[in-house]
Amino acid sequence: MTNRATRPLVMGNWKMNLDFVEALHLVQELGVVMHHSPLEHTDLVVVPPFVDLRTVCSVVESEQIPLGVGAQHVSQFESGAHTGEVSVSMLRRLGVSWVIVGHSERRTHYAMSDEVVTATLATVVGAGMNAVLCVGEDEERRQGGEYRSFVGAQLASALSGLSDVARSTVTVAYEPLWAIGTGVSASVEQIEEMGSFVRSTLDDLGATGSRILYGGSVTEENAGVIATIGTVDGFLVGGASLRASSFLAIGRACDDCYAGKR
Ligand code: 13P
Repeated sequence: MTNRATRPLVMGNWKMNLDFVEALHLVQELGVVMHHSPLEHTDLVVVPPFVDLRTVCSVVESEQIPLGVGAQHVSQFESGAHTGEVSVSMLRRLGVSWVIVGHSERRTHYAMSDEVVTATLATVVGAGMNAVLCVGEDEERRQGGEYRSFVGAQLASALSGLSDVARSTVTVAYEPLWAIGTGVSASVEQIEEMGSFVRSTLDDLGATGSRILYGGSVTEENAGVIATIGTVDGFLVGGASLRASSFLAIGRACDDCYAGKR
């Protein structure tokens, strides 16, 4: 999976799918399989909508399911007049330990600026939570050949509010926008190139310990091949995380790869 002996991480971003009853069913199903045949080397995290979090955290805790729980977004502020927002302390109180910061859907459709991403990342890391910072270029920047400089600038901007020590705690997800929800993942060569680029940029920025994930149309069919390329430490999965079988198959692909079975 990786040449850095880093434990793989597979996160399922459910986006705006599954109400709390459906969430309960999916997590229970994940729990049954994970208790029966646990993943030895791979960390699995589910990232449900806000309204599902209490249910999901309760089941994970009461049934001791080896799953992390994350939120898809959080406010940069601690409390106050921020209608529609949720704070890090509210999430922590529920047992949520991961937060996605700066997903491209929030940047593109909800006007989340680089400045807000920087402030939110600092809030999440400052609260001692695990942050997953999303970066990635759109189709136009890919075609125009500026994708590396664009992603490099996103990383530098987002990490600018953190100390060197704090930077290494951030997980980075490279998710090219043109691969999200399209059914067409980036190619192995493209992921290899961008995995190395993100790694060297993070090294330059002092974030030497960060995990790097790939996201964008990851499926149980392509996860094994991507996992073997060695420049990413796992996946941020959208659509394929909504079914227990496909999500666990992606986790299993990482697990096998880490154990040298692939
Ligand atoms: P898909 O796996 O559905 O392409 O979504 C990727 C993503 O945006 C995860 O955050």
